[in-house]
Amino acid sequence: MGTVTRGTTNPNRLRRMDRWIAATHGTELRRAADPVAVDLGYGAAPWTAVELLARLRENAPRTRVVGVEIEPARVAAAKPYEREGLVFRHGGFEIPLPQRPLLIRAANVLRQYEEAEVAAVWERLCARLAPADPARGSRGGLLVEGTCDEIGRRHVWVALGPEGPRTVTFATRLGSLDRPSDLAERLPKALIHRNVPGEPVHSFLRDFDRAWAAAAPYASYGARQRWIRTVRDLTTDWPVTDVPSRWRQGEVTVAWGALAPGGVAAG
Ligand SMILES: C[S@@+](CC[C@H](N)C(=O)[O-])C[C@H]1O[C@@H](n2cnc3c(N)ncnc32)[C@H](O)[C@@H]1O
Repeated sequence: MGTVTRGTTNPNRLRRMDRWIAATHGTELRRAADPVAVDLGYGAAPWTAVELLARLRENAPRTRVVGVEIEPARVAAAKPYEREGLVFRHGGFEIPLPQRPLLIRAANVLRQYEEAEVAAVWERLCARLAPADPARGSRGGLLVEGTCDEIGRRHVWVALGPEGPRTVTFATRLGSLDRPSDLAERLPKALIHRNVPGEPVHSFLRDFDRAWAAAAPYASYGARQRWIRTVRDLTTDWPVTDVPSRWRQGEVTVAWGALAPGGVAAG
């Protein structure tokens, strides 16, 4: 279910997303009886699926990855790369697996769809995630859906659980950044058309740029120190959900509810 789109991909392009998933969701994957992760729409070559397997297995060695592509020729091209723990399947948003996976990663897939299609696709994919199991301390599966540039220097993604959207993460190579709103061009489909005055994501990026400007004196200690100071300032007005050890990586994660379209914009 879905539409064939351009297959552009690159080795190592999704490293920031892979590392974040490993850090955020590694415990769920490690504890699960059958930790299956889907790389949905891996593109013309299967690099991102191969890398996802390697990065998730560092902390959760029993993880298996299924690459799912809607373009049959791309599935045929990926088959020679199958190995223990990695298979490729033809399919789309229906997720052609017998089980409900613990992770669905869809990178640079929805950007080529219409904004109006996003909510239904999210709902469909969230319904396919492994359910929460409070008795075992599990929040269930995770859908990570977002966008990045060709070589993965700038990335924005939304993370959703079986219950719906949870967070938005901005991740960047700090040395390449003029100002945080440089990331606006990589907003996921649900937000990119909402970066206009009156919308929360626009207010957030405006505040992010202001905090970055105010933190300019920290630039003499390096872009990392400036970013950490900037994010610390942002926590005053915005529900930042992650911790300084993630900020050090050039990341910040914010509660979805604060950036969701049509919400009440801050200040
Ligand atoms: C731009 S490529 C992204 C490749 C890789 N994920 C990356 O970020 O480098 C998008 C891929 O998603 C595939 N695609 C689009 N809609 C899909 C769907 N509903 N299910 C599975 N694959 C889909 C396209 O055929 C295309 O190969």
